[in-house]
Amino acid sequence: MCGIVGIVGKPEAEKVILTGLERLEYRGYDSAGLFVADGTSDHLVKAQGRIKNLEDKVTPKVTGTIGIGHTRWATHGRPSEANAHPHTSESGRLVLVHNGVIENFDTLQHTYLEGDHLKGQTDTEIAVHLIESLMNRQKLDTLTAFKKALKLIQGSYAFALVDKKDPETIYVAKNKSPLLIGLGDGFNVICSDALAMLDQTHHFVEIEDGELVTVTADQIHIEDQKGNLVYRESYEAQLDLTDIEKGTYPYYMLKEIDEQPTVMRRLIQEYRNPDGSIAIDEKLLEKITQSDRIYIIACGTSNHAGWAAKHLFEKLTKIPVEIHLSSEFGYNMPLLSQHPFFIYLSQSGETADSRQVLVRTNQLGYPALTITNVAGSTLSREADYTLLLHAGPEIAVASTKAYTSQIAVMAILAEAVGLAKQQLAAADFAIFQELSIVATAMESLISEKAALSQLTEDYLGTTRNAFYIGRGNDYYVSMEAALKLKEISYIQAEGFAAGELKHGTIALIEEGTPVIGIITDATTGSHTRGNLQEVTSRGAKTLVIASEDLAKVGDQILLPVVHPLLTSLLAVVPTQLLAYFATLQRGYDVDKPRNLAKSVTVE
Ligand code: M6R
Repeated sequence: MCGIVGIVGKPEAEKVILTGLERLEYRGYDSAGLFVADGTSDHLVKAQGRIKNLEDKVTPKVTGTIGIGHTRWATHGRPSEANAHPHTSESGRLVLVHNGVIENFDTLQHTYLEGDHLKGQTDTEIAVHLIESLMNRQKLDTLTAFKKALKLIQGSYAFALVDKKDPETIYVAKNKSPLLIGLGDGFNVICSDALAMLDQTHHFVEIEDGELVTVTADQIHIEDQKGNLVYRESYEAQLDLTDIEKGTYPYYMLKEIDEQPTVMRRLIQEYRNPDGSIAIDEKLLEKITQSDRIYIIACGTSNHAGWAAKHLFEKLTKIPVEIHLSSEFGYNMPLLSQHPFFIYLSQSGETADSRQVLVRTNQLGYPALTITNVAGSTLSREADYTLLLHAGPEIAVASTKAYTSQIAVMAILAEAVGLAKQQLAAADFAIFQELSIVATAMESLISEKAALSQLTEDYLGTTRNAFYIGRGNDYYVSMEAALKLKEISYIQAEGFAAGELKHGTIALIEEGTPVIGIITDATTGSHTRGNLQEVTSRGAKTLVIASEDLAKVGDQILLPVVHPLLTSLLAVVPTQLLAYFATLQRGYDVDKPRNLAKSVTVE
């Protein structure tokens, strides 16, 4: 989704900004722009489409020592150059970039901006006009007018504002949208994601909601809502630029699929104490053992990971687990149990739908754990506890290694809770040993790329739609497999409970419709095979992904045998590769599917 970068106090600011914007490309966007100035001249450049289009417009004279840049994912107003950020005020003096959504933009426009000339349809343009209007009406300096405007604005925002009359300062404010200040030597930077500025600094200062920061080349000045000065230590980002490079891979998605065995082994290292016990905070375990129900709140792939972990969590801990979509739960909260415990699953830790639920459960005083890939992310900071996925940055929009690491962390947590509750003996389920077996099995699956590419061509080559079916955990993996396929290859795909097909959806099966069955569970496998027979009789082309111990002659994809509670970790891998190859074979951009954003920071 939208991204912000900025720098003050460094020559050739435009180069830093363009590199930063490129690093934010993975988040998804449809236009981009930058503003640079140096006290004698200033330049505003915008372009629809890729950063490359913007780069082509940045001529040598577009240079400065201060600048702000933006990638926009359209919310208000279609993707266009006019709607791309930065936006300027009525006189052109103020320049603003913004992530988030201003909910009362209509009222603000009608109340304060009568007679102003707006160039596009964005809420951001209204914000920058509003600041200047307050400066003019009330004879205020820029900072005071900005503060007044923030009091009038309702919604989510990360703002970066530059006044052309003071081209040595960036004013920054934040509410619900992520924003960091990076500390340089003789310069400072701002960014919505530390990855964007890693070549400039590894030292960042977090900004909290409601704070306003004045950033110059040699200092940052943070104020809270009441105008009190805030001092906050910086932290060092534990990220390496090589983590975010593709290396020899054609696409990040393929790299990230291949990284999954390494991530499984890294989790073993991170969560195993030298004596073999599980390294998870005792207080967290105590809170969970005291709860009578776990509520997992998540979106998209993270939600599917919640489903995949439900059964194992219940089995190992004997605590009932409910899985909810964040966007539904927040506004339609079900009746809760007496002692609920909330788990927020989020790769990015920034998903607005999940965050709005966390804000509510915090208000209600319920304990919460965030399981995320990003240390210091909003959901991590705002929950009582955090467990990290240790998957390394996930850049491809289609989430792969985050899904498997979420299930693995849930399994580690489940064993720790089971042991703490004395529901389990250490010998019953040796999670670290089992994850090591999973890692080796994943390696054998990802070495089968040529065969999987051929199967993709044979089964998904020309189809417009496809079904994944399974029962229990295999159904949950089917939901994720279908999401992966549709979000990048644009094949309309559905993940279905195998037994439910005959209650309606089977009407969609035609001659040649691909139906992929997942079979890893001995108790339901023969039923799923029966359902595959039913669709074959109606013309479907069926492909079977089965555990080796349940396989039948003719099954096309065989999964090495792993612990029955962990089969999802393996079954998903070939489905990720089928989605990857289907997209490649159709000639689409695997890493940047249309309309999608990596980090979804609006509700
Ligand atoms: O960062 P999160 O895990 O909270 O993101 C949730 C979803 O937006 C994300 O999983 C999305 O569904 C992916 N595109 C799936 O590949």
